[in-house]
Amino acid sequence: MSPFYCCLAAVLSLASASPAAASISVSAAAEPPANSLLPAEQFLRAHNEARAAVGVPPLAWNATIALDAQRYAGELRASCEARPVWAWGTDGLYGRNLYRGSGPRVRAGADASARWAEGARWYDRDGDSCAAPPGRCCGEYTQMVWRATTQIGCARRLCRCLGDTCPLVLDTVAVCEYYPPGNIAGQRPY
Ligand SMILES: *[C@@H]1O[C@H](CO)[C@@H](O)[C@H](O)[C@H]1NC(C)=O
Repeated sequence: MSPFYCCLAAVLSLASASPAAASISVSAAAEPPANSLLPAEQFLRAHNEARAAVGVPPLAWNATIALDAQRYAGELRASCEARPVWAWGTDGLYGRNLYRGSGPRVRAGADASARWAEGARWYDRDGDSCAAPPGRCCGEYTQMVWRATTQIGCARRLCRCLGDTCPLVLDTVAVCEYYPPGNIAGQRPY
C-alpha cells in the first residue's frame, strides 16, 4: 500500500471529542469568540512548523485557493463529514486535506493541522513507508510537508451534526488545498 494512501476512515473519524461541545445547543450557537490567531494564520503556521521540522521551505497563503477551499468547506458543511466532494472543479489541480472535529472548535485551523501532522509519527522517510494504526494514514502529513508544494488556501465551517451517534450540536469541518499538489506516486515528500 502506498504510504500516501489516505484512508477515508481517517478523515471521517472524529478528533478527540470535546466534552464541552455536548452542552452547546444549536439555537445558542454562534461563531466562537475570536482566537488570537485568525484561522488562516493558524493553518499556515502549523503547516510551516511541520515543514521547518524537516527542513522544507514554508508555504505561502493564496487567496484564490482559499476561495476554492471556502466553497469546498461549504459543501462539507452540508454533510458535516470529512467526505470528499464528488467531481470538484479543482480535483487534480490542488491537493486536499479534509478534517472534521467535534464541537465548534475555536482553533479549527490549528486543530485540523495538528491532526494531519500526526502522520509524522508513522511516516518513515528512509523507507518511504507508513506504519499508521488502523483508521489513520500518513498522506495528510506528507501533503503538508511536500517540498514541491508552495501555496495553500484553507477554510473551516461549522456544521450541524445530525447523526444517530452525535447530539444536535455544531461541529467543525475544515479543508486545506495545496498547489502544486503533493503525494505524487514514486516521489518522496522531501
Ligand atoms: C494563486 O493560485 C492561483 C490558482 O492556482 C494562481 O493562478 C495564482 O497565480 C496564485 N497567486 C499567486 C500570487 O501566486
